[in-house]
Amino acid sequence: MLRIGFLTSGGDCQALNAAMRGVVKVIQNNCEEPYELYGFENGYNGLIYGKFRMLTGHDFSGILTIGGTILGTSRVPFKTIDVPDENGLNKVEAMKQNYYKLQLDCLVMLGGNGSTKTANRLSEEGLNVITLPKTIDNDLWGTDMTFGFQSAVDIATTAIDQIHTTASSHGRVFIVEIMGHKVGWLPLNAGIAGGADIILIPEIPYDIDKVCEAIEERDKRGSRFTIIVVAEGAISKKDAKLSKKEYAKKLEKSKFPSVSYEIADKIAQKTGKEVRVTVPGHVQRGGAPDPYDRVFASRLGAEAGKMILKKEFGYMVAYKNREMTKVPLKEVAGKLKVVDPKSTIIKEAKLLGIKFGD
Ligand code: F6P
Repeated sequence: MLRIGFLTSGGDCQALNAAMRGVVKVIQNNCEEPYELYGFENGYNGLIYGKFRMLTGHDFSGILTIGGTILGTSRVPFKTIDVPDENGLNKVEAMKQNYYKLQLDCLVMLGGNGSTKTANRLSEEGLNVITLPKTIDNDLWGTDMTFGFQSAVDIATTAIDQIHTTASSHGRVFIVEIMGHKVGWLPLNAGIAGGADIILIPEIPYDIDKVCEAIEERDKRGSRFTIIVVAEGAISKKDAKLSKKEYAKKLEKSKFPSVSYEIADKIAQKTGKEVRVTVPGHVQRGGAPDPYDRVFASRLGAEAGKMILKKEFGYMVAYKNREMTKVPLKEVAGKLKVVDPKSTIIKEAKLLGIKFGD
């Protein structure tokens, strides 16, 4: 008997269901022994508290195109797993006990950075773990691409496209705040795809005067409007000099709901222009996966299924240099993949005339 546990962890994204379906299809079509599928509910909490349901192939049928996750998800930050819960429960021990109680042969975890750190911890504790790289942020080290990213780029691009027409009618400065947590992959790609004039990402701290110069330069050339894509984690050159603690304090005290509003306020003051802010927010992680993600997540799932059958554990399935591959969890855990300001995509964007406020 082969017993496989599944859990989806952290913020959701498109194609989580497609990826799990991919794993199960491989098992259904290729496993020579009987198998059982266990779905832990709401991320690691399901594994900690033994909240699971037994699943069959039917549960994975018809979910290729459905966003969200049939298992539910939650955030259990890595730093909290060694902190006993309010009843004194040791969470790591509880996860191990539930795994052994169900006699699982492996755990398939679909998650991003923090979740993969926890998966590595469980792997170090002796559990058989395989992870699949999930996140709209595309910030998982060890893979060129995460699933969910392309679908989010599509949605973010549509948001920028919609803003374009109204911006040109009114001759305003429009800021579109794009998700991506502390990295700029999503704003950078959506910004280029949506024809943004200025893109501000965390990896390239901005100087507000340079941003205003770029707006005024466009004005002189007769362009009445400016589209600025601001990463939710964008940071000014001045703030980048603060310690993490000081910056967190600054954000806490800020009267602005997010960095975009602060930037809008400064632009309005310095240029006298009308500025509007649009925050598409969680829309970017919602809805059906796009065709790219359906294919990509299915392929990742297929690779994970293959690894289960070959009993290769302790890896994240990855996509590198256009090939499917696997990376040891211990290499991935705790590392972030950021945009290199010297990378060719940034150089090309600059050649295209996009300003980064640097
Ligand atoms: O990590 C995915 C992500 O959508 C980030 O882009 C964003 O910063 C964060 O999650 C939002 O988290 P929450 O859903 O907890 O508000």
